[in-house]
Amino acid sequence: MNSFNIVILSAILVICIAAAEDVVDPCCSFPCQNQGVCMSVNSHKDFTCDCTGLEYYGQTCETPIVSRRIKNWLRPSLTTMHKVYTGWPWLWKLVNNVPFLHRAAMRYVYLSRGAAIQSPPRFNSGHDYITTQSHFNTSYYARSLPPVPQHCPTPMGVAGHGELPDIDELAERFFKRKEFIAEPHGTNILFAYYAQHFSHQFFRTDRARGPAFTKGNDGVDVSHIYGLDQGTQDALRSFQLGKMKVRIDEDGQQFPPLLRDAPSVHMIYPPHTPQEEQVALGHALFSMQPGLFVMATVWLREHNRICDVLAVEHPDWDDERLYQTAKLIVLAQNLKITIEEYVQHLSQYKVKLSYDPELLRDEPQFQFSNRIHVEFAHLYHWHPMAPEAITLGNNTYTLEQMSFSTKTVAKHGFASFVQAIATQPAGALRHQNHGPMLLDQFKDVVRQGRQLRLQSFNNYRQLFGMPKYTSFMELTGGDVDLSRQLDKLYGDIDALEFYPGMLLEKSDSSVTPFTMVNIGGPYAIKGMMANPISSPHYWKPSTFGGPVGFDIVKSTTIKDLFCRNMKPGECGHIAFHLPTTEGQSQQQQSNSVETSSSGPSGIVLEPSPVPNYSTLPGDNHSSLMGSQTFSPPAGMTSTPHYATNYRRALTVDDLDFIECQPPSAAQWSSRHHAANNNYCRLREAHPI
Ligand code: HEM
Repeated sequence: MNSFNIVILSAILVICIAAAEDVVDPCCSFPCQNQGVCMSVNSHKDFTCDCTGLEYYGQTCETPIVSRRIKNWLRPSLTTMHKVYTGWPWLWKLVNNVPFLHRAAMRYVYLSRGAAIQSPPRFNSGHDYITTQSHFNTSYYARSLPPVPQHCPTPMGVAGHGELPDIDELAERFFKRKEFIAEPHGTNILFAYYAQHFSHQFFRTDRARGPAFTKGNDGVDVSHIYGLDQGTQDALRSFQLGKMKVRIDEDGQQFPPLLRDAPSVHMIYPPHTPQEEQVALGHALFSMQPGLFVMATVWLREHNRICDVLAVEHPDWDDERLYQTAKLIVLAQNLKITIEEYVQHLSQYKVKLSYDPELLRDEPQFQFSNRIHVEFAHLYHWHPMAPEAITLGNNTYTLEQMSFSTKTVAKHGFASFVQAIATQPAGALRHQNHGPMLLDQFKDVVRQGRQLRLQSFNNYRQLFGMPKYTSFMELTGGDVDLSRQLDKLYGDIDALEFYPGMLLEKSDSSVTPFTMVNIGGPYAIKGMMANPISSPHYWKPSTFGGPVGFDIVKSTTIKDLFCRNMKPGECGHIAFHLPTTEGQSQQQQSNSVETSSSGPSGIVLEPSPVPNYSTLPGDNHSSLMGSQTFSPPAGMTSTPHYATNYRRALTVDDLDFIECQPPSAAQWSSRHHAANNNYCRLREAHPI
């Protein structure tokens, strides 16, 4: 063969290879409907959709079988259901007051929401197809949709540009708060802190391994109160009368212990934080804000109060049994408050939501097992809810000023802090409302979504039974300017990313936008009703130490939780919404759901301290403050602590930094270290 022929043959070979490379996997355009599974065949020349067991058939599983067609025809759309749930007060007044109708409505809510979550899960972030790992490797978060395959031409499959918009530009243009936008349904800061505190028990991303992995236990396990690993749980216990370790202040009130009194607990604090300001809590990051410290404190007091009640009922029980039973009661209380008050407010549904596991007793299809999905963790980044600042007395403290410090609680008192957060508004869950301290969190979650190759916002809408948006105008409710800018950046509505899409959607009658409530709702209801404690073998008085314990569970409200654990007369307005001038709650006005003000729940004892714990030999701190002085100037100036130790306010970048590799003192005081911090960023880039 002469050299001319070799050149010709090589050219033909190159053309053939190029042509082969040009063949786009047809599955990249996600052609299969109704959860049909796409498989490309003939080296990406063709595809099949597996419609097995779906009640649909056809090339893309688009055609319903007759019975499915009738069911679809009879079944109202999610939009209609949402309008019915959040409107029609006369209907819900009737339903809420007729027990059998109310039970039927609640069963429908549980079952329809629960059914939207695949159990066992089919996917995780390790593969874009089903594997044994999806179920068995619980160090991964589960996923509702598999990652977009790596070989697809665009990050969203085939839609949009070859590259997604620059994250900094996205954040600055569309998500940064220009001025604080208050949540329009009267949501208060107590709600935001409750959300953060409660959700971090199961959103525990394992940052060292990457955004696909979790350290958590896939559900409501109260590890946010008691700690995740056995060592932490033990370190937070007093091992006397079932109680948690406490520190008693000068007023005789209980607070979580100092870290030095529970040294094996892992907490994140900036280096050089004085020991007497470091507390030991159930989650390493609850050091972040005093609102989390307040939530931890009230649950700790409630646990110890319940131990007293149980000890009266069961004088023969040892420390271990009192502790374990109180923990079960606290877990059930968490579920009750979350469903009946928190989700009630969040959804703005007018059907009175009730936590009633008995409604699922005869439902064999309801599976009492749950996995936390990474999509749920992403949509729950409710950082727009965080306020700019909290006003306590005559002082206003920014979030930065309150970071890693409980001094505001010590200075103004627990009750004043609680009053402040219950009466000041949270931010609206929407775009253009990420405060300066939390904009980096926005960037992080978008970056993680890209690393995980999350499918588009529209694909998730479709999976959860909502029609895909056809344009940015439709998404934004007709905001011409915003739509034009988004169109330019993304190139196609089908390329819009999951988390940004959640916050860009036009606002609606719930606290969260429509898509968020219709994706988050199923994950939440499934997670709570599939908790083992909701199963028939657990849900009985003996689990909770008998009728007295069961009564506590069944009657607890958020108001009880605080008021039972504060000094008499100190408890003011406690709810997940702002008070109104008429003394009537916003929720009662706008939502007209009558929430029961709980009756007596068995014996109520004053909190009793664990003897001798607060004054370990050698301790000279008898108050929260210890010997430190705290005198923040009026207004928004820094506390002496920060003025002394840091030349700038802490930022969220610092947290990553601490978690991975503690900086030196010199680095801490450098203005520029955050920008150069790539320790954790490198770890996050860990291949999935
Ligand atoms: C009050 C101010 C807040 C601050 C300073 C804050 C800060 C942070 C930081 C630094 C992280 C990253 C944690 C890490 O590196 O592991 C984070 C994660 C997260 N935050 Fe917030 N946050 C705040 C409020 C909230 C609220 C109100 C919510 C509502 C639920 C929330 C939900 C989340 C979630 C779901 C994550 C992901 C947790 C994980 O995947 O492990 N945050 N936040």
